Amino acid sequence: MNKRILLGVCGGIAAYKAAELVRLLRKQGHEVRVVMTAAARQFVTPLTFQALSGHAVHSELLDAEQEQAMSHIHLARWADILLIAPATADMLAKMAHGLADDLLSTLYLAAECPVFVAPAMNQAMWGKAVTQENIARLQSHNVQCIGPAAGEQACGEQGLGRMVEPADICRQVLEHGQSGALSDVNIVISAGPTREPLDPVRYITNRSSGKMGYALASAALFAGANVTLVSGPVNLPTPAGAKLIPVETALQMYDAVITHCRTADIYIGAAAVADYRPQQLADSKIKKGGDIGNIALVKNPDIIAAVAGLQPKPLVVGFAAETDDLENYAKHKLQTKNLDLIAANWVGQTEGGFESDRNALQVFWPGGQQILPMTDKHTLAAQLLKLIAEKLHEKNPVKNS
Ligand code: PMT
Repeated sequence: MNKRILLGVCGGIAAYKAAELVRLLRKQGHEVRVVMTAAARQFVTPLTFQALSGHAVHSELLDAEQEQAMSHIHLARWADILLIAPATADMLAKMAHGLADDLLSTLYLAAECPVFVAPAMNQAMWGKAVTQENIARLQSHNVQCIGPAAGEQACGEQGLGRMVEPADICRQVLEHGQSGALSDVNIVISAGPTREPLDPVRYITNRSSGKMGYALASAALFAGANVTLVSGPVNLPTPAGAKLIPVETALQMYDAVITHCRTADIYIGAAAVADYRPQQLADSKIKKGGDIGNIALVKNPDIIAAVAGLQPKPLVVGFAAETDDLENYAKHKLQTKNLDLIAANWVGQTEGGFESDRNALQVFWPGGQQILPMTDKHTLAAQLLKLIAEKLHEKNPVKNS
């Protein structure tokens, strides 16, 4: 279906690439209106975008003529998708903090449609903690971030910060933009680690940051799902619209997941659940001199296998975290836990898996498989969700047609 795409162009050298983006989107039959910031107009003239989009470019917030043609509120309502490319560090900061001192930042606040940003900036600016915090904040408000890409920059430096190529932005927006693919579907997602206490101050845990599970929650919300996020202790903002159930131990996660899966269409087990917990929980802090040469452990219940045993059974998607023989272990878990799909990832490598912002997955299901190459966890989550939506549709064609 053809979309109405509002393209915001910010001031950076990549602004010239946004012209190609307009051409590609229109070539695929989509309607495009362009908003330029004052700085963007220093790089490319509005006439270029007017000629390519077939419509006058919007620039000023307080311009009586433009407001008469289409007010900024109408412009925000008109759009099916708001895409900001290139998005500068300044615009991301404004958006993250709700500032509305120009037309584009005001449109972002007024927009109720899906929003994408394709950042472009110097690698040091992208790497700066405050920029990363702003991006994380925007992602937790369900803004989809495309890139940036790595490579040589206009300033001569190397690193992450180049705007993703227009053809890739176009593909990702239109792929991602199938919002509604999981409309009204109930999804339970587990994320993060569990903590298994030894005494009031110590616990056994693992390296999971929750990033993969939280990215899945954002992507599921974006696709129109009702999301319940059962999360171990993490340091991440809750995706806007998700129902968060915070837990600490595997037993608490078991109770929360089973309760919410009774009415779920899909369960995704992205949490790294501790397989064992200490047999004894000491009432007070275990002292250094005490005799704790060995810690007796007992097995935790297998949460995902229990979900797969529920009647009716939701579509059950597991993860497999492996340091070796990825394919065999993943296929074994798919079968023994009675899963519909398993997403296998390498852990303990230099990139991907635990804690990293990036990951790659090898996805297996009975009779098939697909590789999702290394990319950021948000893009990967959208790709995995697309596959999961297809499987749900195959399983239950009437409800999800
Ligand atoms: O959180 P991040 O830092 O972003 O890292 C992401 C991740 C590496 C944690 C994630 O991508 C991942 O692989 N999660 C699953 C980790 C794991 O516990 O894998 P496993 O192979 O041990 O378990 C297989 C499956 O069984 C998983 O779906 C797990 O949630 C589930 N399980 C395991 C044990 C248990 N007692 N109950 C379970 O439900």
